[in-house]
Amino acid sequence: MVTIRGYRPDDLPALYDICLTTGASGQDATALHSDRDLIGQLYAAPYGVLEPEQVLLAEDDLGVAGYIVGTFDTDGFAAREERDWWPALRQRYAEPSPALTAADRQRIAAIRTPERNPADIVAAYPAHIHMNLRSRLRGQGVGTMLLQRWVSMAEAAGVKGIHLGANASNVGGVAFWQRSGFVPLQTIGRTVWMGMKLKD
Ligand SMILES: CC(C)(COP(=O)(O)OP(=O)(O)OC[C@H]1O[C@@H](n2cnc3c(N)ncnc32)[C@H](O)[C@@H]1OP(=O)(O)O)[C@@H](O)C(=O)NCCC(=O)NCCS
Repeated sequence: MVTIRGYRPDDLPALYDICLTTGASGQDATALHSDRDLIGQLYAAPYGVLEPEQVLLAEDDLGVAGYIVGTFDTDGFAAREERDWWPALRQRYAEPSPALTAADRQRIAAIRTPERNPADIVAAYPAHIHMNLRSRLRGQGVGTMLLQRWVSMAEAAGVKGIHLGANASNVGGVAFWQRSGFVPLQTIGRTVWMGMKLKD
């Protein structure tokens, strides 16, 4: 039995853990990182902390097992991260330990200099999302339920479009988004940028 519910502050550890254990193009990224928080600091935790109303969780008998996080206003969110999220992390990673892996270092570089989503895509599709489910929850329509709930919230807020970036090697993820109404817009490096229009 799976329940979809809103975010509570004590869900933050689950956001970090799910992000890490699904973070290598949908596979477990634990072996790539010595610091278990780094992926979540980029792609999950700031949404829970800064934009908790836009986080939905899927929970089963074993606990929280999936999330959709995002923002209705990508530029506004980037500005909030610059003010309220990155400064403490930049201090925390100011002198990286020699024990860090190559993947850790890549994430720290992204904390120092966050990648911006393509401006033309943000202009046309101002909202963006990330969704990750633990493997036990996949393939049962839970991702579809989370997405439908999030899209309804965005529509109610008058958002004109939603975008996301998927790793091109995440073939299953890209197939899911296409099946769910997202159209590929641009591929830049390894990222396929996709969008869904909600209104003109
Ligand atoms: C991608 C993900 C969010 C999809 O959620 P899900 O609950 O497994 O998907 P659903 O069961 O709702 O599937 C909806 C449709 O998408 C298709 N789909 C889902 N996963 C797919 C996959 N791996 N390959 C091909 N098609 C897939 C399903 O076939 C289904 O189509 P159907 O209704 O015609 O059967 C989930 O599998 C996941 O979290 N994966 C790991 C993390 C990840 O890759 N996130 C996306 C990063 S861009």
